[in-house]
Amino acid sequence: MAEVTIDSTLQEDRLFPPSTEFSQQAQIKSLTEYEQLYARAKADPQKFWAELAETELHWFQKWDTVLDWQPPFAQWFVNGKINIAHNCLDRHLTTWRRNKAALIWEGEPGDSRTFTYAQLHREVCQFANVLKQLGVQKGDVVGIYMPMIPEAAIAMLACARIGAPHTVVFGGFSAEALRDRLNDGKAKLVITADGGWRKDAIVPLKEQVDKALADAPTVKDVLVVQRTAQKIHMEAGRDHWWHDIRQGVSADCPAEPMDSEDMLFILYTSGSTGKPKGVVHTTAGYNLYSHVTTKWIFDLKDTDVYWCTADVGWITGHSYIVYGPLSNGATTLMYEGAPRSSNPGCFWDVIEKYGVNIFYTAPTAIRAFMRMGEHEPNARNLSSLRLLGTVGEPINPEAWMWYHRIIGGERCPIVDTWWQTETGGVMITPLPGAIATKPGSATLPFPGILAEVVDLEGNPVPENEGGYLAIKHPWPGMMRTVYGDPDRFRRTYWEHIPPHEGQFTYFAGDGARKDRDGYFWVMGRVDDVISVAGHRLGTMEIESALVSHPAVAEAAVVGKPDEIKGEEVVAFVTLDTSFSPSPELSAELKKHVVQEIGALARPGEIRFSEALPKTRSGKIMRRLLRSLAAGEEVTGDTSTLEDRSVLDKLREGA
Ligand code: WTA
Repeated sequence: MAEVTIDSTLQEDRLFPPSTEFSQQAQIKSLTEYEQLYARAKADPQKFWAELAETELHWFQKWDTVLDWQPPFAQWFVNGKINIAHNCLDRHLTTWRRNKAALIWEGEPGDSRTFTYAQLHREVCQFANVLKQLGVQKGDVVGIYMPMIPEAAIAMLACARIGAPHTVVFGGFSAEALRDRLNDGKAKLVITADGGWRKDAIVPLKEQVDKALADAPTVKDVLVVQRTAQKIHMEAGRDHWWHDIRQGVSADCPAEPMDSEDMLFILYTSGSTGKPKGVVHTTAGYNLYSHVTTKWIFDLKDTDVYWCTADVGWITGHSYIVYGPLSNGATTLMYEGAPRSSNPGCFWDVIEKYGVNIFYTAPTAIRAFMRMGEHEPNARNLSSLRLLGTVGEPINPEAWMWYHRIIGGERCPIVDTWWQTETGGVMITPLPGAIATKPGSATLPFPGILAEVVDLEGNPVPENEGGYLAIKHPWPGMMRTVYGDPDRFRRTYWEHIPPHEGQFTYFAGDGARKDRDGYFWVMGRVDDVISVAGHRLGTMEIESALVSHPAVAEAAVVGKPDEIKGEEVVAFVTLDTSFSPSPELSAELKKHVVQEIGALARPGEIRFSEALPKTRSGKIMRRLLRSLAAGEEVTGDTSTLEDRSVLDKLREGA
């Protein structure tokens, strides 16, 4: 990769300290307390994590070495014996939490179910026994392709309980994508449902599984949960209804003592080459890291109802719907539905119905809500909320302010959490009672995380200069390898930056800068960087400038090859519903970017479009936009596109 300097242009000086009331009740109460924790963790990371492992988790057998670091391969809590399902369930049963709500679930059609810790434990144990009965053994990989129903979480916990690594494939993926992942993981069994509800329609999950299994020879059995009750094909000898097979099965299933470094799950994430990477997480380190980050970042209280809107098919669903919250004994809410034309305000209904206190969602969702206007949230009572979070992309200050004012009623801190599938848990984030926020900044690293912005030699870059986001010391939640391809793990994450002062450096693939207060501003993937006349511009910053104009709902910026400048800025813009495209508006938006950032960033071209091509997890697919902008054929994998018609519309408009 060529050396780049990334010019950072976003200026944002607003500062939002937490209220005194919030800080006083928080887990971490002041900047001083955070700084002390951070300094202690930095001075002796192993001692810091070992103390937390001792106090926060249950162990069948204690470890004998905290960290074995053979770069880039780490082992944490070597020779410890632990089970994450035990930590999420069993240990709460001997406390008052036994009858506390563990999981509150709301279906899209309005049905709902609640499980106490005792009930969830029982379901998980029975599910685990069914898996065993079907021949699943410790070490066997199980595929999970499920809608957002309680059985998705139950299935994950059942796998963890018996030591069968799960690989959850997001229910929106195609049969081909599912097949590739099942084959790569050599899955032995698949857990699915007949279908799931999404935007008032049934997603035919079982049908996709049937197609995928035509060419996935390792899969011997399919366990099918009934959700939608439409007619489906059941293959005799291979497919089993969960409600039939569970009859008479015992709910007594002791948790398997797992080695700290036994694989807990594989989660596939797209790489730049198109072939997805199987990110491997192991048991103890992941349990500890997801537990502690949930506790401090979401400032969990036993009385809270906590809701993360992610899908369990993403890492956010793994760490912050299932494992982190349950390990803490929290009440976690799971919602099947998505905002849809029949009920654009459904999220606000859920918050009102359950009195949600902590709400964690994605910038893309926030921008969609902004576009719909304030009417929907204003028509509900959102006063139960006390803390908000965002994850997945840089949040532009405009959307941050809207979230703060309209959803948070100006009283809720916002935790903008930067992390990745690879990191297992949040790495850079405000601790909400301790760290004052700035709209658009993920603020400071979590204690124990040595984050830096560096150049390609590994040298820290000066204040306010763009560079690469890097992590300098292993942490318990880090991925251990790429499944079946340790060499790809080394190449992708550990070889872009050479060891610096003896420390191996993890390359996150994101551009960032640090401001004078040490706050991190993540600028997006480094492949989302545009070079105009030798200046590297983060696409996110130009997008932010565009979105700060009242007419703009969403913007995606890409570079188009230009003979003179190297690249020219092309902006794809979705307008607020009360505006329509015109040459005048186009000129005005260009002027606006110049005003906000400078002439350097002036878009050469503005293309209006009704929607932008996004992945199912809401990330804009800039690769496709780049091809469109350059007038090329769109090639490569488009299987992760949420809505293919968007691409056709963009082509027609070109
Ligand atoms: C981006 C999601 C800015 C980033 C947990 C990262 C963010 C990628 C933020 C990982 C944030 C995630 N601010 N950018 N708060 N959170 N990202 O693996 O580019 O789906 O590298 O994990 O999302 O995406 P992934």
